[in-house]
Amino acid sequence: MTDGCISINGRRRLTGETTVQGCKNAALPCLTACLLCDRGCSCLGGCPALSDVENTIEILERLGAECVFDRAGELVTVRAENVFGSSVDSGMMNKMRSSILFMGALLSRTGEADIGYPGGCEIGARPIDMHLKAFRRLGVQIEEEGGMIRCRVRSRLKPGPVSLLCPSVGATENIMMLMAKSEGETVIRNAAREPEIVDLQNLLNAMGANISGAGSDVIVINGTDSLRGAEYKIMPDRIAALTYMAAAAACGGRILLRNVNLDHISVCCSVLRDMGAVVEKDGDGAVLTMSGRPNAVNAIKTLYYPGFPTDAQPAFMAAMTVAKGTTVFIESIFENRFRHAPELVKLGADIDVNICQAVVRGKESLSGAEVRSSDLRGGAAMVIGGLIADGNTRVRGVSHIERGYRNITEDFESLGADIRMIY
Ligand code: EPZ
Repeated sequence: MTDGCISINGRRRLTGETTVQGCKNAALPCLTACLLCDRGCSCLGGCPALSDVENTIEILERLGAECVFDRAGELVTVRAENVFGSSVDSGMMNKMRSSILFMGALLSRTGEADIGYPGGCEIGARPIDMHLKAFRRLGVQIEEEGGMIRCRVRSRLKPGPVSLLCPSVGATENIMMLMAKSEGETVIRNAAREPEIVDLQNLLNAMGANISGAGSDVIVINGTDSLRGAEYKIMPDRIAALTYMAAAAACGGRILLRNVNLDHISVCCSVLRDMGAVVEKDGDGAVLTMSGRPNAVNAIKTLYYPGFPTDAQPAFMAAMTVAKGTTVFIESIFENRFRHAPELVKLGADIDVNICQAVVRGKESLSGAEVRSSDLRGGAAMVIGGLIADGNTRVRGVSHIERGYRNITEDFESLGADIRMIY
């Protein structure tokens, strides 16, 4: 992690190409799932060198797994034949939200899990009640005391139907981890449908699990005895791709992104086209071409997949600050996900926030200033703001951005931006 800042001389068209990193939010559950394998070695390609990935590897190692991270090659190998512990301390848990998945993975592997509460970006309350309720239903005894969660499988897990109150990504993944090796059939109803869930299903099945339905709202897990290490390539990061696409839609130009699955971002591509961009498939990637200021879009409402992703809302808000007209953003997933808006206002943007709604009146231009990343995606929005703005912008709070973007300055440099990290 760095405590530097990102310096951007803005108002340049973006022209160039770069390769989009592997998906953080798929890599984290897939790495955690390696703990389920009592035989063999897992090799996961497309794991970006991010602080959250490093932290996940550190937890695996503390639990006894042998891990090797080839950062340049984005390849992690995990051998988890010997697992020594069943607890993850609060310090490690607190570093990221996805640490909660160690609850399912540890219970599956050892029948026990003593963990703290997960951390992650400050974008809302982010409770774990659905995880706990589902786990209790599936036969896990859970006691919460003194900031720790003590979980035990007393005799055996109890597979069966589980209905989620809302399609939580983390709860769906955690149940898949917990039940992949149980005896019997578990059916998750109202499951999250995100592509990252499909990636986890594909990895677990490559390890020998029998799971079907991921990508739909009903997932069926037929437990198997044991899982063995597998080779797997993590999907492209759809939010990183959208960050670069939103930037190019705001700045104009022509960018080629390699390693993009357009099927994963079809709703956002439709918004980009409404903004005036041309988005085309190019082999395993995509080309976005844009001239002139973006058109405003009446309303952008974040929804569960396949709706407009909450993680892309900050980047699109930054782009809409210079749109021709007014765009209303409605955030329906997290209650505190407009913390980037006042920072964009420092760049001259015209934004009014009212609880879960933000009204963005597009202006001809923004002007450079010093701004701070509020959280991971809010930080990416600041970088886009800097790319749009006249003059120099300095983005502080870079460690937030580094949790999710392997190398945002180099990527934007490859796309023609005047951007650099200053220490
Ligand atoms: C995942 O978080 C992602 N994180 C988030 O990405 C993403 O914003 C989010 O899904 C929604 O797409 C990872 O994959 C590591 P949820 P997660 O459980 O699993 C409520 C980023 O920027 N809820 O689907 O934590 C919750 O409060 C990050 O990369 C409960 O009420 O999200 C929210 O309103 C940020 N109780 C909604 O469900 C629960 O027990 C969806 O949350 C669980 C969730």
